[in-house]
Parts: sequence; C-alpha cells; structure tokens
Amino acid sequence: MSLKNIRLEVMQHLEKDVDQLIEKYLIPVDNIWQPTDFLPNSESDNFYDEVKEIRELSKELPYDFWVVLVGDMITEEALPTYESWLMDVEGVGQMERNGWSKWVRHWTAEENRHGDVLNKYLYLSGRVNMREIEKTTQHLIADGFDIGTGQDPYKNFVYTSFQELATYISHNRVAKMAKKKGNKQLSKMCKIISGDEMRHHHAYSEFVERIFAVDPNQMMMAFHYMMKQKIAMPAHFLRESGDKISTAFEEFSNTAQRIGVYTSTDYVDILQKLIDRWDIGNINNLSDEAEKARDYLMKLPSRMLRIAERMTIPENSYQFKWVEPARLK
Ligand SMILES: [Fe+2]
Ligand SMILES: [Fe+2]
Repeated sequence: MSLKNIRLEVMQHLEKDVDQLIEKYLIPVDNIWQPTDFLPNSESDNFYDEVKEIRELSKELPYDFWVVLVGDMITEEALPTYESWLMDVEGVGQMERNGWSKWVRHWTAEENRHGDVLNKYLYLSGRVNMREIEKTTQHLIADGFDIGTGQDPYKNFVYTSFQELATYISHNRVAKMAKKKGNKQLSKMCKIISGDEMRHHHAYSEFVERIFAVDPNQMMMAFHYMMKQKIAMPAHFLRESGDKISTAFEEFSNTAQRIGVYTSTDYVDILQKLIDRWDIGNINNLSDEAEKARDYLMKLPSRMLRIAERMTIPENSYQFKWVEPARLK
C-alpha cells in the first residue's frame, strides 16, 4: 500500500472519534465568549466614555508593542488561508462533510473571533493606521502561503500543534505586558485568546498522539521532516503596501523578539514540549530510518538553543506604516 493510502486509512480510522474530540476541545457557539464581551457596547449610552478610556489607556503602550499587536492581529485575520489549506488535507472531506471537515469548520469558527476582537480594539485605540493594516491583511490573504506540509495530515498536525502553542505564547505575553501598563481590558482580551490557542494546541497534539499509536514510523518521519525544514510562521509572506516582496515579516519577528513576545528560545521550548508530550525518546521498535529521525529530534533542541543564544536582534525599532510614531506622542 502506498504511504498516501496508509495515511488515508489512518485518517478514516481516527475519524470515528472526531465528534468526541470536538466536544473535548472546542466550545459550542452559544457558550463561548464573543468579541463584543470585551469591547464597548455600541448600543449603550456609555459607548463614547468607554472608547475614550480605551484611547487614554492606549497612550501608555510603546511603539514596538503596537507593531506586535498589529502583526498578531493580521496573522489571525489571514484565517481564510488556513481554513482553505486544511480543507485540502488528505482525509479531510469537504464534500462528504466527514468528521475531519467538521473539525476544521468548528475550529475556524472559534479562530475567527480572534481577528475580530483585535481588529475592533485596534480601530478604537486610535494608535494605528488601520488603512495600512487592512492593506497588509489583504496582501497576506491574496499572496497565500506555503507551510511546507503539502496535503499530508501528519505534517499538518505537527505544524498546527506547534503553531497553536506559538500563538498561545505570544498572545499570553502581550496580555501580561498590557496588564503591567494598567490596561486590564486589552489584557483580558489577549488572555482569553491565548486560552483558545492552548486548547487548540492540546487538540492537535492529541491527533498526533493518536497517529503515533497506529503509524509510529511515518509519524516520526513527518515530525522529523517538519522540524528539519523548520516551522515557517503563518505570516511569513507578510508585506506592507507598496512592497513587492515580503520584508515585513523579518522586521515583525525582530520586533516580537526585541520585546520578548516571541523569541527563538520560545521556538526551541515549543519543540522540547512537543518531544516530551509525544514521549519521542521512548518510542521504540521503529524502522531504521524512523529510529534515526527520532535520534535527530532528540538532539535538536540543544543544538538549536546554541544557535538561538548566538542570535542578535537589532536594537532600534523598525518603522512600519501600520504605526506612526507621531501618533504615539
Ligand atoms: Fe487564533
Ligand atoms: Fe488557535
């Protein structure tokens, strides 16, 4: 049997439990938080006062912070790209509406609130150039992405396990910074988003765990493949208006590193967490090839940490069109 057919069989085998996994990891629409829970109520007479408060508190937050918040929001707003990518993964049946496509649709519904709430907040804050931000979002969706997983479900689930944890870290750190500056509302908003990301991380990690149980050799090879080529961030094609190629992502990621929202050490920590979670070191009876892959993975965090420690980040802020320093005075 070809590798592709084995993967399809594994996906079908696991599909019978997807309903149960949706119940375990996702929250029904009628019970989950909504963006308006964290924003001024535009039907209320207090609306203007609440907006005024947002604008006042926003003045406390520095330039790099806004850049990171904008970049995080744009990453969330490119959700159409992620949904269409996942819908195309082998075993995810869009037409037959199987368990996996139900998962993708329900996950998308939850994710959709993240961009919504951040977008509305940024708009009300008065600190950023919304039109420039909107253009970047549109470019990012129009450019699409390639995360190097192909349509392989194993590689995709490694990617999403990794990525959900990465977004958990960055939203959570932003929440802490906002709280420190006395901005409780923004802090709560980012905190609740990070909680969603953590749930999603656990879900995708369980998918991988279940695949390890039935197809350990190929699951190991997929994990190895993804880590060897490195996890590309979903916004790696990020660009500003007028740019032909993406230079913004590097600067965005430098900014996130500079203020400690997401660093190369975090990347290594996530890798280590995945290795521990899937108990990679104790998976035995593998093919020679998969055994080599396992040994490579076990040594990778310490190797990457040495590289991460040598990396230097530019000290000065990069000037984005999204945030004009003059607006922050
Ligand atoms: Fe998200
Ligand atoms: Fe998520």
